[in-house]
Amino acid sequence: MRVTYSLAALAGVTLGRPSPEPRSLAPRAVAYVDSETGFTFAETKAAATLSNNIVYRIAVPANVPANSNYDVVIQVVAPNSLGWVGLAWGGSMIKNPLTVAYPNGQKPTVSSRWATGATYTALTAGNKSNGTHWQYTVKCTGCTTYTGSSGGITRISPTGTTRFGYACASGKVSNPSSTTATIPTHDVYNYVSHDFSAGQNANFAALLLKNGVTDESGSANATQAFE
Ligand code: HEM
Repeated sequence: MRVTYSLAALAGVTLGRPSPEPRSLAPRAVAYVDSETGFTFAETKAAATLSNNIVYRIAVPANVPANSNYDVVIQVVAPNSLGWVGLAWGGSMIKNPLTVAYPNGQKPTVSSRWATGATYTALTAGNKSNGTHWQYTVKCTGCTTYTGSSGGITRISPTGTTRFGYACASGKVSNPSSTTATIPTHDVYNYVSHDFSAGQNANFAALLLKNGVTDESGSANATQAFE
């Protein structure tokens, strides 16, 4: 009884003290397994307001060979207060693929606003909206390899951490079924670090097929040689 009392007191003291370890701002990989599509995503939350997040999830093929292009599956969940949300793959507004999406009835519209070559294919599952949020799930070809501001090829590591830019607006898009609709300027832009390592999928191509999307490269990992 005495021992129990002492341990409890010690635990209380320990909890009450600040942690002696330095706090690290390094991103942590957070895995999210989506039961609807079967993909394992690395998840990053980006603040849209003080009380609302945009959730960005990215799934990649496991074991992408070095210097190869690879497709990704992006899943984004946004609060209904937002009229559009965008992801800047290279971490700035210009000279990198911008994935822009807005609600459009039950199934959001997703389009590319910079960089030739980034294309999107909606999965048969994971595109929806309800009373509080809208969500899209698409395959992107061309989001992770692009010609950057220096004119050289930038290839985002499928296993590393990269800095994304993101932006959003509360203003609605007036013709949301169009992939070229005019969007109002963002109310908010900011940056997040996204760690791809938690979103590795050994069965990437099979999962795409399960969700109605063909793996164009025909390989198990949906990769293509670029050069
Ligand atoms: C309606 C179209 C848009 C307009 C008129 C616009 C305008 C601007 C302006 C004027 C700035 C500079 C702000 C400053 O210096 O304080 C900026 C910055 C930024 N915008 Fe946009 N923007 C648009 C769409 C987008 C989209 C679709 C994204 C997608 C993510 C985006 C992401 C960013 C980011 C990340 C920055 C920070 C600066 C940087 O790192 O490059 N913008 N925008």
